[in-house]
Amino acid sequence: MLKYSRIVGTGSHLPEKVLTNKDLEQMVETSDEWIRERTGIGERRIAAKGETTVDLAVPAARRAMQAAGVDPDEIDLIVFGTTTPDQVFPNCGALLQDRLGIRNCPAFSVEAACSSFIYALSVADKFIKLGDAKCALVIGAETLSRIVDWSDRSTAILFGDGAGAVVLKPADEAGIISTHLHTDGFYKDLLYCPVGPSKGFHPDEQGRIPAYIHMAGNEVFKIAVKSLGAIVDETLAANGLDKSAIDWLIPHQANIRIIQATAKKLEMSMDKVIVTVEQHGNTSAASVPMALDAGVRDGRVKRGDLILLEAFGGGLTWGSALIRY
Ligand code: COA
Repeated sequence: MLKYSRIVGTGSHLPEKVLTNKDLEQMVETSDEWIRERTGIGERRIAAKGETTVDLAVPAARRAMQAAGVDPDEIDLIVFGTTTPDQVFPNCGALLQDRLGIRNCPAFSVEAACSSFIYALSVADKFIKLGDAKCALVIGAETLSRIVDWSDRSTAILFGDGAGAVVLKPADEAGIISTHLHTDGFYKDLLYCPVGPSKGFHPDEQGRIPAYIHMAGNEVFKIAVKSLGAIVDETLAANGLDKSAIDWLIPHQANIRIIQATAKKLEMSMDKVIVTVEQHGNTSAASVPMALDAGVRDGRVKRGDLILLEAFGGGLTWGSALIRY
C-alpha cells in the first residue's frame, strides 16, 4: 500500500463577466465601501447565460492536467465538488469526463456546500492511499450566481462563480498528510437553499420559487470563526505540530474577516495567507483550489512547503487538509 497522495498539478478558471461593487450599488442599497470593509470583496465573476459549472470546470481541469503533465487517458478517478450541478444527473464528474474525452473511470460528485472541495480531496486521497486510483482529478466548481437572490443585499454581495482543479498521484512521501471533515446538521437552517427535485419547487409567500441562498450571516460568521479555529488546533494536534510549522494558510475565500481570525489563531502574518477574495468573492467549492493555484502560479507556494487548507459552508460543514506541497 502506498502511503500518500500528492498534488502534481493545479488549475483554475473564472468566467469573463465582472460584477463590481459599483455595479451592485445600482442593484441594491449598498456601497463599495461597506462591502470592502465587511467582506474584503471588490468584485466577483458571473457565468454567461447558458455557461454551466462543468463549462467552467473544463479549462480548470485542462490547466491542472497540463501542469501535471498528465493525458486524459491517465486519469482513473474524477471527484467533483459542487453545490450547483449542471443538472440532477448525470453527475458533474460524468459530464466533465465526457468533455475531457476520458473513458471508463469512476466519476462522481460530492456536495458539502463551500467545503465540497476539501471533502472531494479527502475522498480522492483515500482512493489513492488504498491503491484504488493512480491519477485522480479533483474539482471544485460552482455557478453560485444562479442561486443568488439579486434583490437581497445581505447575500448578493458575497458570491461569485469559478472553478479550480488539482491532479493527485501516489507518492512515497507526503503529499496530503491528513484531512479532517466535520458536519453539524443541527445548523441546517442557518445557510441553505430550500428547493430540490424531491422537496419540490413551491412558491413562497411572495409567489417566487425560493431557489436561492438564505443565510443568517451574523450567526454563520461566528460559528465559522469558532469552527475554523478548532479545526486548526485539531489538524496541528493530529500531526504533533506547532503552529509555527505552517508555511502557508490557504483558506476558503468567504470573508476577509473570517480569514484574518483564522490567521490570528495560527499567529500567522497575513503575508503567509493566500487571499483572493477581493478578486472573486465567495466561489464556494472553487475557492480553495483557485487560491492554491494562484499561490502556485505566482511562485509564492513552493515544493516542500507545509500548507493548511480549510473551508466552511452550509450544512454546516467544515474541513481542513494539511499538505506538503
Ligand atoms: N450593504 C449595506 N448594508 C448592509 C448590507 C449591504 N450589502 N448587508 C447588510 N447591511 C446592513 C444590515 O441591514 C445591518 O443594518 P442595521 O444595523 O440597520 O440592521 C448592518 O448592515 C449590519 O448587518 P450585519 O448582518 O450585522 O453585518 P455583518 O457585519 O455581520 O456583515 C455579512 C454581514 C454577511 C458580511 C457577514 O455576516 C458575513 O460575512 N457572514 C458570513 C457569511 C459567509 O461567509 N457565509 C458563507 C460561509 S461559507
